Amino acid sequence: MTKNIGILTSGGDCPGLNAAIRAVGKSAGGAYGMQVQGFRDGFRGLMENRTMALDREALSGILTIGGTILGTSRDKPYRMQIGGKEMDVTDAIVANYEKHHLDVLVCMGGGGTQKNALYLKEKGLNVITLPKTIDNDVAMTDVTFGFDTALGIATEAVDRLHSTAHSHHRIVVVEIMGHWAGWLALGAGIAGGADVILIPEIPYDTEKIAKAIRDRSRSGRRFSIVAVAEGAGSKEEAAAYQSAEWKKEKAKSKDEKKRAKAALADWEAHHAGSTLRLAKELETLTKLESRLTILGYIQRGGAPSAVDRLLATRLGTACTELIHENKFGVMVAARGDSTEAVPLEKVAGKRKTVPRDHPWIHSARLVGTSLGD
Ligand code: F6P
Repeated sequence: MTKNIGILTSGGDCPGLNAAIRAVGKSAGGAYGMQVQGFRDGFRGLMENRTMALDREALSGILTIGGTILGTSRDKPYRMQIGGKEMDVTDAIVANYEKHHLDVLVCMGGGGTQKNALYLKEKGLNVITLPKTIDNDVAMTDVTFGFDTALGIATEAVDRLHSTAHSHHRIVVVEIMGHWAGWLALGAGIAGGADVILIPEIPYDTEKIAKAIRDRSRSGRRFSIVAVAEGAGSKEEAAAYQSAEWKKEKAKSKDEKKRAKAALADWEAHHAGSTLRLAKELETLTKLESRLTILGYIQRGGAPSAVDRLLATRLGTACTELIHENKFGVMVAARGDSTEAVPLEKVAGKRKTVPRDHPWIHSARLVGTSLGD
C-alpha cells in the first residue's frame, strides 16, 4: 500500500532544510512510490491544516536555496499562542494527521522540535525527526545540518574583521550565534584565528581577557579579535543564572514560581546587552579602542554549503528508508559517514554542549587562544 508522508520544518530556519525536504520527497516518491505533502509553518500549519503539495515541480530547484519552502515557526503543539492565549492544540494536530491518512510525520528541527516530536509520538503518531540547527547542539548526532554553512559565514566574518581591526589597532568583539552551546563561536574563532574565544560552557573573567589583549599589545600586536557566542557570560553572570534556575526548580508556591520566573526574565534582559558591555569594559581595561559587530541572522541565511547539502541529502534519504522499514519514533542521526536511527527518548530534552575537554578546546589553547578563564 502507498504510504503517506507529511513533512514540516520547525524552529529557527537554517541552510539545508530545502535539501532535506527534497531528499525525503524525491527518494520517497521516486524510489518507493510514496505520497509526500508538506505542512506550512511548523506545527501551526499542521494544526491549521495548511498544506503544500510536494510534487516533482515543488521539489525541483530547491537543493541550493536557503531557508525552507514550507516556512517555519517556533510553535509547540501543547502550548500554542492563539488569540493572545496559550492553548494545547494536540487534538487538532492528531485529527489533521488522521484526516490526511498520514503514515508518518517527518519533523525537521532542533532541540525544541525533538521534544515536540516525542510528545506527538506519545500521543500515538508515527514521527521521524531530522536534526537541523546552525547551533549544532542537538544531542546524539555527530552534527546538525546548517552548522557547516553558518561556520563558513562566521569564519569569513572573522577573517574580514581582522583587516579592519589590524588597520585601526582596535579590539573587535564579534558576537556569533549560539545561546546555549558555543560550537559556532568556537569553530569560527579557531578557523578565523580569533585571539579570544568566549563560549557559554566556559564563563569568563573580563580581567583575564584584558590581560591577554594587553600581552598581545605589549608584544607589538596592537589589535585583537574577540569571538563571543551570544550565550557566553562572565563568571558572575553564570553564577547569577544558576542561582535563578535553582530558585525556579525549588519554587513550590505559585508566588515563589512567579518571582523565580521574573528573576530569570531579568537575568535574560540584562544578559542581552552583555557583549556590548564586554566591548566597553575591554576598552577601559586595555586603553585600546573597541568595536562590536553582531553577526545575527546573516549566519542563518543564504545557500547551504556543499557539506550541508550532502548531509541533508544523506539524512533525508535515510529517513525514507526508515519509513519504508516502518521504523518510527526516531531521529535520523549523522554517525561518521553513515546514519543511525536514535530513539527520540534519547534525544529530547538533552543538549549537546561543548565539553571542556573537547579536542577543539585543547587545540585552541595550544595555539595560544584565550578562552577567558
Ligand atoms: O537557530 C538557532 C538560533 O540561531 C540561535 O543561535 C539563536 O539564539 C536563535 O536561533 C534565535 O532565533 P529566533 O530569533 O529566530 O528565535
